[in-house]
Formats: sequence, structure tokens, C-alpha cells
Amino acid sequence: MSLLGQPGNSVKLVDRAKTKVIGAVTPGSSDSEAAGRAIREMFTSIAPRYDLLNHLLSFQVDRLWWRRAARSFRAILTEPASHALDLCCGTGDMTFALLRQSSGSGVRILGVDFSHAMLERARSKSAGTSLAWIEADALHLPFPDAQFELVTAAFGFRNLANYDASLSEMVRVLKPGGECGILDFGEPKGVIGRVYRIYFRQVLPVVGTMVSGVRGPYAYLPASVERFPGPAEMIERMRQCGFRTASWTPYTFGIAGLYRGKK
Ligand SMILES: C[S@@+](CC[C@H](N)C(=O)[O-])C[C@H]1O[C@@H](n2cnc3c(N)ncnc32)[C@H](O)[C@@H]1O
Repeated sequence: MSLLGQPGNSVKLVDRAKTKVIGAVTPGSSDSEAAGRAIREMFTSIAPRYDLLNHLLSFQVDRLWWRRAARSFRAILTEPASHALDLCCGTGDMTFALLRQSSGSGVRILGVDFSHAMLERARSKSAGTSLAWIEADALHLPFPDAQFELVTAAFGFRNLANYDASLSEMVRVLKPGGECGILDFGEPKGVIGRVYRIYFRQVLPVVGTMVSGVRGPYAYLPASVERFPGPAEMIERMRQCGFRTASWTPYTFGIAGLYRGKK
């Protein structure tokens, strides 16, 4: 589901005023490599309970969000010659949603994550499917330019140590006319927003910590969402990084939302 941190090794977002790098980083380390290592350890520590907690804490709405996001790219996914890449795939739920929308077209879908433990779970869930998994860093993708018609990232983008570097990598590996879809949390407004924030700040961290058995990561989640750039800034960044068009569609009152970009 989202971003996280651990006591003594907690993850926070870099102070935008003091540095040009915008993304999740670890305190005391200004380079994105060290930040990436800490983030990988953090996800590895919660991998065993990740799926359970995702569904529990989102009341299963996460499934609807993955499906809705994947459905937006049905035209690409039903094209047999297409290649799709799901970044920060974790245990693979967004990747599976993409596969389901392909309706057996034969599209090639790759899931990428840098946590071995998360990928092991994705692999064990995907036996007998055509999905393939690669252990790699989303900031340095091991692919030549212009390989994919579609690149997605669900609830992973916010955890990257350098947002602009990641957007530029997406643009690089997309074919001209290819599309990206970034599904991530937002901040709902009004009464719904107030109720949601009580749940997100006070209930979710307690349940997440209890069930995962790891102190810290789920307590950090609300802060990471609060600090994540809002839609206007994200759209501007997407344009600056090379997307010709960029848009945002809110899901469930803006609790989540899908950024779409076209190269
Ligand atoms: C919150 S999980 C999302 C997993 C899945 N997409 C989902 O929707 O449930 C974020 C994932 O991003 C991965 N991740 C974070 N930074 C990464 C990076 N630089 N390169 C590759 N994977 C990364 C983590 O290992 C983790 O599995």
C-alpha cells in the first residue's frame, strides 16, 4: 500500500526548500542510494504481512483501485504486440490487474521491484501465468530506450527517493505515444477528508503496527501522504520530465487517484 519508515531508520521526505532532490529519503543521508537501501529494507521487513494488511486497512477498496487503474489502459493491454511494465510491483497485485484486463491478448507484462522478499511473493502467486518479474531499481531501469507501450506504478511512486529521476526513467523506456499510469494516495477534502484523516492518522498506524509486528512503517504512512506533492505539482513535474500530456483522476473522493501521462 504505501510509504513507510522504521524507528531509528525512519523514512521521511526531503526538505524541498534545501535540496533539488524530491522524494522519500532517510534522515542524515542526502544521497538517493542510501535512501533507496533503507526503503528496500523497510518493505522487506513488512513483506510477510503486506497483502493481508493492504486488504485489511483499505477494507478491500485497494482491489477496486487496481482494477479501475488497469481498466484505463485496456486499449493497450488488449493489443497482443504490447509490452507493459509495472514498477514497484511489490507482491504483484497491480500487475495481476493488468493481466486480467488483457483478456488473454498475449501482451508481455513485467513486474519490477527492488525488494527480493516482495518479488518472491509475487512469483509464488503467479505460477502458471505469463507474468515475469525482475529485481531492479525503478530509478535505474535495466532496459534500453523505447521498449514499452505502458508503464505503471501503484502505491510505489511516492516511496521513490527521486521523483523526477523516476519520471524521466519512465519517459525513457516508453515508446513514443506510450502511456504511464501512477496510482497513489491523495488527500480528500471536506467532511470525508476529516473523517478519513482520523482513520488514517489514528487507527491505521495502530492496526498496521499490531498486525505487521514491525514498529514504525505504518505510523509513517499518513505523513508520507501529507508530504507527497499534490496533483497540480505532480502534473507539472510530469510535463517537465517529458510527458506531452498529464492528468489526474481522483478515486474514492480523492483518497487515491490515477496520474496518466503520454509520451
Ligand atoms: C507500497 S508497495 C506497492 C506494491 C504494489 N504496487 C501494490 O500496489 O501493492 C511499494 C513497493 O515499491 C518498491 N520500491 C520502492 N522504491 C523502489 C525502487 N527505487 N525501485 C524498485 N522498487 C521500489 C518497494 O520495494 C515496495 O515493494
